[in-house]
Amino acid sequence: MIGKFALIAGVGGMCGSNMAQLLHGKGWKVIGISRGAPELGSWLRHIPADLLEAADAKAKLTGIEDVTHVFYTALLNGRTLDEENELNTRLCANFLDAALPRIRKLEHVHVLEGVKQYGYHLGPYRTPAREDDPACVPAYFYEAQHAHVLKRQAGQAWTWSTTRPGAVCGYANGARINLMTVIAAYATIMKALGEPLYFPGTQATYDALTFTSDVGLLNRAMLWASTDPRAANQAFNIGNGDAFRWNFMWERVADMFGMKPGPVKTMKLAEVMKDKAGLWAELQKRHGLVATDLFRLAPWTYADTVFSRHWDNAISTVKANRFGFTEMMDSEEMMRRIFSEFRSRKVIP
Ligand SMILES: NC(=O)c1ccc[n+]([C@@H]2O[C@H](COP(=O)([O-])OP(=O)(O)OC[C@H]3O[C@@H](n4cnc5c(N)ncnc54)[C@H](OP(=O)(O)O)[C@@H]3O)[C@@H](O)[C@H]2O)c1
Repeated sequence: MIGKFALIAGVGGMCGSNMAQLLHGKGWKVIGISRGAPELGSWLRHIPADLLEAADAKAKLTGIEDVTHVFYTALLNGRTLDEENELNTRLCANFLDAALPRIRKLEHVHVLEGVKQYGYHLGPYRTPAREDDPACVPAYFYEAQHAHVLKRQAGQAWTWSTTRPGAVCGYANGARINLMTVIAAYATIMKALGEPLYFPGTQATYDALTFTSDVGLLNRAMLWASTDPRAANQAFNIGNGDAFRWNFMWERVADMFGMKPGPVKTMKLAEVMKDKAGLWAELQKRHGLVATDLFRLAPWTYADTVFSRHWDNAISTVKANRFGFTEMMDSEEMMRRIFSEFRSRKVIP
């Protein structure tokens, strides 16, 4: 027994569920919080609490005294940026207030942030972004969440860290942000319709620089930042280490599905997919796939937003490398592996 004990807020999500599996595989005990039941094994102690409700969180977050490491990966979308900021700040504060006073052996609090720290969602920003760049204006909720952590750390022995990925790539059903399930479901549907793989975004997005963060690499970075004393009380950008333009990558993506790449054909995927649930169900039956809801598996509205951002998206990962996290990954290889994992899981043919 290695004596490490994690509490993960947002354990059903893309980053949280994969983090839970990584830690479990390394012999950690894991408790996870989310409202819905995560698709994980019975090794996980799941607490079904609504962190937006302070009283519910306080009542349900019990039996956590021996936790050593906290990982905050919860996320709620808002209808507006203001609402998103308010909801997520409250979500995090409620969680910290319910959890921290009960934990007797706390060593570290890790909060997952993202490239929106630099304003990626607002428009062109200084690239490649560095950790010491100023937060965007108006600030995204990461700033307020971090202030809540700092306030609670005063006078305590535990340390904090944060990681800042870009588009996180991997498997999670029901994730609010997941480019890989979007591309996989979109390609499967276009192939079934006998269409080429059109790039559904704008020409400017096709030509802009971008990057991705493999979820496994991100989770390993989160673990490193939370356990290596050199990383204590620091923020780190985390990406695969390369960058690409879709105008270079798209034909390779088409090849991953045995398809011809189409030209840019700007469309709103959320609209296009509205009448495709029947076709998706038919494809699942025809190919013996597991049952997934087309709109839960692939967050189309998120993809529409990403494919219409026409500016460069790039971070420097030099700081993490200098502090001791040196893993890198080729993004094309990552996509090929992830789509092949989806096939093994029988999510796509
Ligand atoms: N995914 C990406 O591409 C990406 C990129 C950059 C940064 N990030 C950052 O990484 C963090 C995690 O993102 P993610 O993509 O992993 O999110 P996600 O897949 O949507 O997961 C969010 C998790 O939070 C839980 N949650 C939401 N509302 C809750 C509530 N009221 N009470 C308890 N749990 C609640 C969800 O479960 P329930 O809904 O069942 O409660 C789910 O388990 C976010 O800060 C995000 O900004 C993500």
